[in-house]
Amino acid sequence: MRLRRKKNRDIRFERCIDLTLEPNSELKNQFYNIFDKNKATEIEIGSGKGGFITQLAKTLPENNFISVERVKDCILMGMEKAKSAGLQNIRFLCADAEILTEILPSGCADVIYINFCDPWPKSAHAKRRLTHRRMIRHYLPLLKTGGEIRFKTDNDGLFEFSLQELSDIGFELSDITFDLHSTDTFNILTEYEKRFSQMGVKIKRLVARPTDKTYQMISKL
Ligand SMILES: C[S@@+](CC[C@H](N)C(=O)[O-])C[C@H]1O[C@@H](n2cnc3c(N)ncnc32)[C@H](O)[C@@H]1O
Repeated sequence: MRLRRKKNRDIRFERCIDLTLEPNSELKNQFYNIFDKNKATEIEIGSGKGGFITQLAKTLPENNFISVERVKDCILMGMEKAKSAGLQNIRFLCADAEILTEILPSGCADVIYINFCDPWPKSAHAKRRLTHRRMIRHYLPLLKTGGEIRFKTDNDGLFEFSLQELSDIGFELSDITFDLHSTDTFNILTEYEKRFSQMGVKIKRLVARPTDKTYQMISKL
């Protein structure tokens, strides 16, 4: 997401510093001092302006939430939403998905959300898609046994690709819909979802659970 640099960005970031996680290897050791191990932890990767995850954190106060977003001007907007709502159960990690296994403990997440990730439509760029196996290997180890990935998109091509890719690497797929808003699935809208659904675009969604085959295939990459 391209955003103009926010005015007073660094000062505003500093005001929300208690809600941030430092993207370094120390985080692995400190993780369970920050988050209660007995509570479910849900992570959104590529959370943009943070509307979805902050609303989810309000809705499910008993769970922990982590917003991962690599663009500082975007993540700041989520941080400010959480700060003004007084949320205590969410933290913000300004980092690229590619370093997540280096900085977060294995098996720390019950759910990973991928919402409206960049579709990278050219096949030469397919490996950059967050649902490509080469990207999945950077966050799959974070999932607990029995955990799941929840994926939403407006993009037909990306959805078709993701269905094929996830099933090729052994994920068990469920809750597949080509028109999420026509179902009664519990749903919090993201900023992109609001924009695309107002334009009449149908929202696609799936849930993916890894199997032994997934772990075997990913370990060979
Ligand atoms: C198209 S926007 C969608 C934002 C939000 N999820 C929504 O639905 O409104 C995709 C976001 O993912 C972020 N992103 C893309 N690749 C990423 C990566 N490898 N690691 C972390 N964030 C990433 C981008 O910076 C951008 O903010």
